[in-house]
Formats: sequence, C-alpha cells, structure tokens
Amino acid sequence: MLIIFSSSLLLLLLVTTICISPSLSTTTTTTTTINRRKHDLFTFPEGQSTVLPDPSSFFSPNLTSSPLPTNSFFQNLVIEQGDQHEYIHPYLIKSFNSSLSLSYPSIFSNSSFTQQVFTPDINISVSNNPNPTKNHTISSFSDLSVTLDIQPSLRFFLVRGSPYLTCQVLEKVSLSIATVHNIVGLVSNSDKTKYKVVLGNGQIWLLYSSSSIGLTRKGSTVISDDFSGVIRFALLPNADSKLEPVLDRFSSCYPVSGSAVFDDSFSVKYKWDTEGSGDLLMLANPLHIRLLDDDDSVKVVDDLKYKSIDGELVGVVGSSWVMKTDPVKVTWYSTKGVEKESYPEVIDALVQDVKGLDSNNMSTNASYFYGKLVARAARMALIAEEVDYVDVIPKVKQYLKDTIEPWFLYDNSWGGLITLQGSKHRDGDFGFGIYNDHHFHIGYYLYGIAVLAKIDPVWGRKYRPQAYSLMLDFMTLSSGPNSKYTRLRCFDLWNLHSWAAGLTEFENGRNQESTSEAVNAYYSAALMGMAYEDPHLVEVGSLLTAMEIHAAQTWWHVKEDDTLYAADFVQANRVVGILWQNKRDSVLWFAPADQKEFRLGIQVLPLLPITEVLFSDKEYAKQLVEWTLPSLKREGVGEGWKGFVYALEGVYDKENALTNIRNLTGHDDGNSLSNMLWWIFSR
Ligand SMILES: *[C@@H]1O[C@H](CO)[C@@H](O)[C@H](O)[C@H]1NC(C)=O
Ligand SMILES: *[C@@H]1O[C@H](CO)[C@@H](O)[C@H](O)[C@H]1NC(C)=O
Ligand SMILES: *[C@@H]1O[C@H](CO)[C@@H](O)[C@H](O)[C@H]1NC(C)=O
Ligand SMILES: *[C@@H]1O[C@H](CO)[C@@H](O)[C@H](O)[C@H]1NC(C)=O
Ligand SMILES: *[C@@H]1O[C@H](CO)[C@@H](O)[C@H](O)[C@H]1NC(C)=O
Ligand SMILES: *[C@@H]1O[C@H](CO)[C@@H](O)[C@H](O)[C@H]1NC(C)=O
Ligand SMILES: *[C@@H]1O[C@H](CO)[C@@H](O)[C@H](O)[C@H]1NC(C)=O
Ligand SMILES: *[C@@H]1O[C@H](CO)[C@@H](O)[C@H](O)[C@H]1NC(C)=O
Repeated sequence: MLIIFSSSLLLLLLVTTICISPSLSTTTTTTTTINRRKHDLFTFPEGQSTVLPDPSSFFSPNLTSSPLPTNSFFQNLVIEQGDQHEYIHPYLIKSFNSSLSLSYPSIFSNSSFTQQVFTPDINISVSNNPNPTKNHTISSFSDLSVTLDIQPSLRFFLVRGSPYLTCQVLEKVSLSIATVHNIVGLVSNSDKTKYKVVLGNGQIWLLYSSSSIGLTRKGSTVISDDFSGVIRFALLPNADSKLEPVLDRFSSCYPVSGSAVFDDSFSVKYKWDTEGSGDLLMLANPLHIRLLDDDDSVKVVDDLKYKSIDGELVGVVGSSWVMKTDPVKVTWYSTKGVEKESYPEVIDALVQDVKGLDSNNMSTNASYFYGKLVARAARMALIAEEVDYVDVIPKVKQYLKDTIEPWFLYDNSWGGLITLQGSKHRDGDFGFGIYNDHHFHIGYYLYGIAVLAKIDPVWGRKYRPQAYSLMLDFMTLSSGPNSKYTRLRCFDLWNLHSWAAGLTEFENGRNQESTSEAVNAYYSAALMGMAYEDPHLVEVGSLLTAMEIHAAQTWWHVKEDDTLYAADFVQANRVVGILWQNKRDSVLWFAPADQKEFRLGIQVLPLLPITEVLFSDKEYAKQLVEWTLPSLKREGVGEGWKGFVYALEGVYDKENALTNIRNLTGHDDGNSLSNMLWWIFSR
C-alpha cells in the first residue's frame, strides 16, 4: 500500500493501472533485451523539481535532448560554476575563466585520510583573450572521455587514463601556457614540434605539437606564435629514466573518445577512437592490470608509471583492451544450503518475523528505508524456500504486493527518476531528487520485485513494465534520444565500480560509501532477470556485480599488508569509509572514524547470498572483524550494527559468531533474526 506520498497516491495508482500496455501484460515470459526503446517503456508520472540545476548551462544544445549523466567522472564540470577540478587520470583538470589548468597531483596521507592535492602546474588559454567566459561547453562525452570546448578556439579531449592532455586549437591563435611555479628551462627539438619545460618544483613537462610552434618565455608564462593544430602535454614521471623516448614514440596518436563494450559474458572491452598516427598509449589502474586479458593485442609498458590515489597507473599500448573477470554465479540461495539440523531454529525465527510483517504499519516513508523493509521481507520468502517451510510464503507475498508500488516520478531535464520529497528538497530521500544513491534505493525494490515475480509470476507479468523501468533508471545500456535514462547512471566504466553522489559539486569528485549496497543493486537486477527469464539482464547484472566486487576488494577493503595506500593510512584502517575520486576517507557520512562498527556494517549490508562472494577472503574478514571489535565495547552500540560484525565473524569462526548472534536483542531495519540464522547456518 502506498501510504507515503498521499498527494500523489491517486495519480500513481491511476497511472499504474492504465499504463500497462496490453501487449506486455499478456506476453508470457518472453526474453527481451534491456535496451528497450523509450516508447516501450513504462513512464512514471512527470515530476517538477525545484532543486535540479539546468544542464543547458554547460552541455551543448545537441546533447540536452538526450538523458544526461548525473553521477559521472566529469560531473563537477557541468554543475554550479563548472570550475571545480575533476580527476581525469593521471591529471586533475580544472576549467575556469577560459583557461584550463592541469595538475599532476601530489598525494597527502595520514591515518585519517589520503587525498590528492590540486596545484595548477600548467594553465592553457588563448593569449590576451579579450572575452574570457565563465562557461565552457561539453560538446560530447563517452564512457571513457569528455570533450570540453573553450569557445571559440580550444577543444580539449579529456580521455581517462591518457598520459597526454590533448588540446585541439581550432583556429590560428597565440596560446598562453602559464604556471604557478618558476620556469627553469624551455628547450625545443630542431623542428619545434617538441618542447621540454622544466618547472621550479622539479616537474618536467613535454609538449608535442602537430606542426612547428614557436614558443617564447615571458616570466612564468610561455607565449606561442599563432598556431592551429594539436598540442599535447605530458608529465615526464621520472626525470632520469628512459621514459622520454617512450612518450615521444606514442605522442602522435591521440584518443578523442572511448567506449566500453559488453560483448562477452564476464568481460568488458575498451575501444578508443583515435586520430593521428602510430599506436595508442594509455594508462591502466591496478584493477585493469589484474583483469587485462593476456592476449597479444596489448602490451604493458612496465616502466611507465604515474602515481595515483588508485595505485600506480601503468602504460599499456593498444587501442582496444579486453578485461575479464571470473564468473560470479548469481543465485537465490546460499551456496551450501542451511544445515538440516538447524532448520527448526531458523523456522521458529521465520514464523516470528513473518508474523511481524504489517503493510498497514510501515515505520517509514523515506524511499531508502522503505525499500529496505521491502527487501527484508522478500528475504523471508527465499529463506522459507531454503529451509523448506513454505507455509509463511503467502503472507510474505501479500505483504510484498501491498508494499511494492512504483512510487517514483520522472524528471525530464536530466532524464531519470526522482521522488516527491526529493523534488522539493535537495536532501529529501537522501538526495534522491538530485540523483544521489539511485542504485542503493532502487536496488532494494528490485530485490523485492525479483522475489515477488518469482513466487507470483502473474504479478510479475502484470508489473513487468514498471519493474524494467525502475531497473533501467540505473542500468540502461543504450544512449541517445531514444533512451529514457542515461547510460549506466552510477557505474563508472573506467573505475569499474559505482558512484553514489549525484548533482553536487565536490572538491574530491564523486563518492561512494556502501559497496555492499551497490553490489545488491546489480545482483538484484540479475535476480530480476532470472525471475523474468531474461538471460541478457542476468548476464549484465552478473558482470556488474562481479566488477563492483572486484573494485570493493581492490579499493575499499584494506588488508594489513596492503601497499596501494600509504603505510599510516593502512595501519589505521581496515576499510575505507567514503571513497572519493580524489580522496579515501575514514569517516562516514553518518559516523566518525572511530565508531568502526558503522564502517564495517555499511560495507556488509544487506546480508545476502552474494555476501559470500564479496567476503570470500576469510583472512581479510578476520582482520576486519578484529579491527572492529574494540568499538563494540562502547556504551550504546546498536544491536543491528553488532549483527553485521558477527555475521562477518561467521565467515571464519562460526561457533563464536552463533553465540553472539543468538544473544542479539535486535537487528538492523533491513535485517532479521531469520536472515542472521540463515547466514550462520549456511556457512
Ligand atoms: C513522512 O514522514 C514524516 C515523519 O516520519 C512526516 O513528517 C511527513 O509528513 C511524511 N511525508 C509524507 C509525504 O507523508
Ligand atoms: C553559465 O553557467 C551559469 C551557471 O553556472 C548559468 O547560470 C548561465 O546561464 C550560463 N551561461 C550560459 C551562456 O550558458
Ligand atoms: C579572467 O581572465 C582575464 C584575462 O584572460 C583576466 O583579465 C581576469 O582577471 C580573469 N578573471 C578572474 C576572475 O580571474
Ligand atoms: C590528518 O591531516 C589533516 C589535515 O592536516 C588533519 O586535520 C587531521 O587531524 C590529521 N589526522 C591525524 C590523525 O593526524
Ligand atoms: C555537438 O555539436 C558539436 C558542435 O557544437 C560537435 O562538435 C559535436 O560532435 C556534437 N556532438 C554530438 C554528440 O553530436
Ligand atoms: C592558473 O589557473 C588557476 C585556476 O585553475 C588560477 O588560480 C591560477 O592563478 C592560474 N595561474 C596562472 C599563473 O595563470
Ligand atoms: C506499528 O509498528 C510500531 C513499531 O514500528 C509498533 O510499536 C506498533 O505497535 C504497531 N502498531 C500496530 C497497530 O501494529
Ligand atoms: C549478551 O549481550 C549482552 C548485551 O545485550 C551482554 O551484556 C552480554 O555480555 C552478552 N553475552 C555474551 C555471552 O556475549
């Protein structure tokens, strides 16, 4: 029952009733792809937001008729004044007052956080520009790039992982290349197509141009003769090495955009579009390197390394890479099943928990907490199936039917779902209306929908259009004006994990806190694919689940012997709190660093069969729990948060964990005693 947005209740119910297309509601379980065209899709009623920014300030007009990215690596460039820097590995980029600044960031670290520091090492602009403008224009973007125009003369191809920053000078102008450091040296090759700029901070920058360019030094600015063509900037990461010839060799092939293609299961292929001549040199992050397929099409240049908050970035030659993960099997149930002799204890808990379900008495109207209640109940149906006690299922089914309603609204400006509270207040529903946390919230509903469609196929068929429309809000693969939603709203195809933060300017770029809730989103989408017998959805959901897990294990899970982060940070932290593009924090949005049970819990919940895969490393689970345990001695630690600590303890010490779990007096709002017992008895 929709008790939440009473004012829109009628409208929603009306729309729900009349918008189910007859052809879809009578279709049985046919397979469809998840790239459904706009007109096939269920449309949520349009919402009018008073809090969303206008995308036309920065996106070129030919882009604004399509859904636009809301959680992307370049988000800072298109909100507020557009002048906050973004991390386009290996450089921080800032665009301000018709000038683009390039920074090879230093990394500051202590036990509280590790963060990249922006310094404008190189500023590029048109000399004596009489009309600097505040706004740049985004003229195109792709999975792996964004093109930023400073009208009318400069176009920057910001391609992620390019060791060169590429600028196309569209008309003959004199360029100004400024720095906050002293210029210690400026030397060119004989035909003036390459310069070496030595800065007072010790950095050496290499400049490559597509044709001869005259450069003159004036204080800490370098002024060019009139020039049009392509100019590229690369930092020489290590002064006395053999790296300069490597950068020389690949300087004439430049990427202008790049896409990620899913053509095989459990693999992602990067393909860059390039101009110029020769082979493409890019940089790979540690996860890329781990997943990079060992074929002959790419060559790793081990010596070429740039430092980064994500670990060393290593040179790779080739304009197409394939990355493969081991398959992750998405399943409804635990891998090993619940021990037979503990069925009675689980069933007792289940009977009590199901008895407590009351759809007329939902404790919340916030989309996040409401979704957690839906998913919590849905787990009970699956646990009942696992322990062969189906008597409780009808009650769960009814509860799910009464509580799952497509109670979202559609925003036409960026192209996506919002909620009523989120359309009025930036912080309503945790910022859902400014595109925060979509995969977290919707993931819980998808879990409920997947389970309900499984146990009640008639309901599933009836509400399939709504179910798919919800899922596509963050899992659309297509792009362009025929899509209703932006491509993969949260999932970052270069970092290979999701971002939760939407349209807010942040010094440190996008961020994500809970990797386990992100995993839940793609896992639940895959389960929905299973319920609807849609192998393509299962495949994509499983791939994104696998990637999100890899990324969590690479960047969030901090093992004792980790070398990716600085030693003082590693020593103090077994898990990252908030992970930003530019920073690793030990605090959470809702708790300080020393309350470690929150930090553990938010990386574990919701407790599901897929949690087995996320925490498959028993040694790490032990390190994380032992690091957390002292926090539980504090006065007033919530039983729900303790529960997740004991659940992880169950990964390596089942007996102790069971004692602790039996002694709990309460559970997280998305968890239950049945679920805790199911977990521990299936270890
Ligand atoms: C949601 O609940 C809060 C308090 O829990 C209440 O103040 C608010 O009016 C409710 N909103 C709606 C739309 O029902
Ligand atoms: C420039 O961006 C600002 C928002 O930062 C917006 O108000 C203004 O309309 C934009 N100007 C143009 C010419 O698009
Ligand atoms: C913007 O740049 C122009 C010259 O390019 C300069 O005169 C002006 O002071 C700059 N404005 C700001 C706010 O930095
Ligand atoms: C880490 O550095 C920041 C910034 O200087 C400081 O505010 C913080 O207190 C430091 N943390 C510790 C544990 O020293
Ligand atoms: C949009 O228009 C610009 C010119 O303003 C063009 O360079 C760009 O390629 C166009 N982008 C797309 C996606 O068509
Ligand atoms: C370079 O640009 C930054 C803004 O990114 C500005 O603060 C700085 O003053 C500029 N420096 C020079 C030397 O132009
Ligand atoms: C509604 O739920 C609250 C706890 O969420 C409980 O205290 C109350 O007794 C319930 N009311 C009814 C009528 O079930
Ligand atoms: C059981 O939990 C209580 C607090 O709820 C605690 O005081 C007690 O020590 C626990 N017992 C065991 C055996 O862990």
